[in-house]
Amino acid sequence: MADISIRSVRKAYGKDEVVHGVDLDIYDGEFIVILGPSGCGKSTLLRMIAGLEEITAGEVAIAGQVVNQMEPRERGCAMVFQNYALYPHMTVAENIGYALKVAGMAKAERIARVTQVATSVGLDGMLDRKPGQLSGGQRQRVAMARAIIREPRVFLFDEPLSNLDAKLRVQMRHEIRRIHNRIAATSVFVTHDQHEGMTLADRMVIMNKGTIEQVGTPEEVYDHPATTYVAGFIGSPAMNFLPGRISTAGRAVVLEGGARLDISAAAALGHDGLLVQVGLRPEQIAIAAPGQSGLPVRFDFAEELGSGRLYHFLHEDLPVTVHSDEKRRFAPGEPATLTVPPVAVHLFDAQTTQSLTAAAALAEARARVNA
Ligand SMILES: Nc1ncnc2c1ncn2[C@@H]1O[C@H](COP(=O)(O)OP(=O)(O)O)[C@@H](O)[C@H]1O
Ligand SMILES: [Mg+2]
Repeated sequence: MADISIRSVRKAYGKDEVVHGVDLDIYDGEFIVILGPSGCGKSTLLRMIAGLEEITAGEVAIAGQVVNQMEPRERGCAMVFQNYALYPHMTVAENIGYALKVAGMAKAERIARVTQVATSVGLDGMLDRKPGQLSGGQRQRVAMARAIIREPRVFLFDEPLSNLDAKLRVQMRHEIRRIHNRIAATSVFVTHDQHEGMTLADRMVIMNKGTIEQVGTPEEVYDHPATTYVAGFIGSPAMNFLPGRISTAGRAVVLEGGARLDISAAAALGHDGLLVQVGLRPEQIAIAAPGQSGLPVRFDFAEELGSGRLYHFLHEDLPVTVHSDEKRRFAPGEPATLTVPPVAVHLFDAQTTQSLTAAAALAEARARVNA
């Protein structure tokens, strides 16, 4: 176990800076997920922690010790990659035990350890096979076993499940979380898959173009996304966005086209006339009963989910999706009304993209703690 502290870390390839000053504290035993789209700098950040990339500026410390100048093997990190990086000519047992052999451990002891770790990841009976004789999932287990056997202070995972089929991904995801809980290591897990990130993380780090947009528990990030970027990235189907302007007196946001949505007093306070993006999660709004007031829309099309349905509407030509378990029939173009409770209205400053509602919720939570 070890905590990791990342201070103003930057990475440039030649003149091209791809990580722009990242600050992050990772606590002992925590499962941290670094989430973001392809190319945002996740792997680069992870590889700087591991020592596989030089740190251009700033500092990384593991267990209180600055590691910038340390060799990868001195840092106590074990890395698991997407492509497994197994030695093809070695057996499963040799792959798993390689680090112990290099470290000079006696053969009998090594075999005992290899057998024990292989069993713990479900590889018993496969120790004599070569990687070429294994399925993708089994290869991934070998890569995991090879990391576990080193008893690292820190596990670093770079999209380790991306090459697996959907079912195996879920199975391995559960196993990774179980292993993490059992050996209480510190884990840093990189993925572009929000679902994988949400389900694995103690805390998530949402990255965008080489910077951190938000750090928080999956719940915090979902309930109170700090920016339109995070709001649009987390949640499936994605949050709906409609442009509008705040009216403090009316305690409402007035959408382009004139429709009004009630908002909380705290969110409106001090923002009269501010241009905003209104964010509505498909699962937090509903189709109103006939005669009820709300957001006027027209029906576009629906998608069956089995457990519910996605209704795609248009408000002033902008898409508004509702996730509902109601079964309703609409003709294309048919008018409908959506119920939008004030707590479902996320507000983002149109210019800065920063959330007003997340800031208000955070301030409220702090006030409660201090009261
Ligand atoms: N060795 C390299 N040389 C130059 N540019 C690189 C190198 N490795 C990565 N990059 C660039 O750095 C950015 C971040 O890459 P990466 O960390 O791999 O993103 P992610 O893992 O989030 O997909 C990308 O624009 C990528 O093209
Ligand atoms: Mg990557």
